[in-house]
Amino acid sequence: MKILLIGSGGREHTLAWKIAQSPRADKIFAIPGNPGMKDFCECVDGISILDNDAILKFVQENQIDFVVIGPEAPLVNGLVDFLDAHGIRSFGASRLAAEIEGSKSFAKNLMKKYSIPTAQYEIFDNADRAKEYIRNQKLPIVVKADGLAAGKGVIIAETLDDALNAVDEIMTQKSFGEAGSKIVVEEFMDGEEASLLAFTDGKTIVPMISSQDHKRALDGDLGLNTGGMGSYAPAPVMTPELIDQATKKILEPTIRAMAQEGREYRGCLYAGLMIVDGVAKVVEFNCRFGDPETQVVLPLLESDLLEIMISCAEGKLDSQKIEWSSDSAVCIVLTAGGYPKSYQKGDAIDGIERAKSLGTLVFHAGTKEIEGKKFATNGGRVLDVVAKSDSIEKAIDLAYKAAGAISFEDMHYRKDIAHRALERLEKLKNV
Ligand code: AMP
Ligand code: GLY
Repeated sequence: MKILLIGSGGREHTLAWKIAQSPRADKIFAIPGNPGMKDFCECVDGISILDNDAILKFVQENQIDFVVIGPEAPLVNGLVDFLDAHGIRSFGASRLAAEIEGSKSFAKNLMKKYSIPTAQYEIFDNADRAKEYIRNQKLPIVVKADGLAAGKGVIIAETLDDALNAVDEIMTQKSFGEAGSKIVVEEFMDGEEASLLAFTDGKTIVPMISSQDHKRALDGDLGLNTGGMGSYAPAPVMTPELIDQATKKILEPTIRAMAQEGREYRGCLYAGLMIVDGVAKVVEFNCRFGDPETQVVLPLLESDLLEIMISCAEGKLDSQKIEWSSDSAVCIVLTAGGYPKSYQKGDAIDGIERAKSLGTLVFHAGTKEIEGKKFATNGGRVLDVVAKSDSIEKAIDLAYKAAGAISFEDMHYRKDIAHRALERLEKLKNV
């Protein structure tokens, strides 16, 4: 089969790496892809991932059999529907289904209507009314832009002033553009977060192994929010009981609700959860694989990813075997100094092969090829170093050893990835 993968980050590199292991994958193209993927992909420049016509033309000219879509923007832009209308199969959510991520108010209303556990909330399209409501609520309180804001449209306000300013920033100053013409104001949930991704064909939904990411830039979960500084899987906070609870109370009802609303959901459903007193509640849904969760989840998948994706697209997931390794995986994101604020690009990277020779995977997130097999930094998040081992401790050690083998000017990474898993293990030892 000929496969086309849409996207260019560390998540897409991981998807390409895993799809390439399928005996059915004869050739993989990527639009636009990244330099790290070139070992097993042909990367295609010059086509926007939001240009459905140009993507279809490429698919037809190259006789692509199956398209896999990584990021949310092309899903929200209806790429799956467009390809479907031209008889091309793909893995991903349709435009109507992708609204579960594209509109927070849609997702919240769906959860309310179908009794899916989530934080209490109200929706506003008027700043004064939002402020009046906030004045009568408990603090901290969470203010969210309704639309896509690259993970940045969420403000957790500790004081009333911060909350009122957040409303102005989103609705009046339009810091997140049209994404902020509506806001969701919601109750702050105090607990531990986990990510539960799931494969679904619209009827059957199968959770993947659980994971946890690290959104803040600095150790101890301090500093600014980023696109993700690291991840690990499985997440010990997601006990088998909690996975069962989340499947029955969240994943399955959500898939049924989407079907009932005429928005059948196929692809990967990402449930961002908050575990509060033993109960899993939804923080957010995403219509795609998580980044950097994918980098730790897929290396633990023992089954053929391409087969699973095709069965999701064809509505045959119930007959699909999905097996997971009992290992743990850890991902450390190496970033350019200064990220997520301004940072420099174009610094030569040294040591990728050395890191790989230790037995780790190195996925590219923001690099460019400078000559031959040499790379330079080309983004805030530069590389994802992933280690797998039979214990989380060993995976952490190996990942850090490999991260230490790589260097570039002003390289930064967190030194405490997976600290929550270690703290849980410590507690268990002391019981
Ligand atoms: P979202 O884009 O909705 O996932 O929000 C980004 C991050 O803000 C989440 O990963 C949480 O860490 C945090 N967050 C969002 N909503 C809440 C909430 N209701 N209570 C506590 N933290 C939240
Ligand atoms: N890791 C968070 C996300 O993919 O949205």
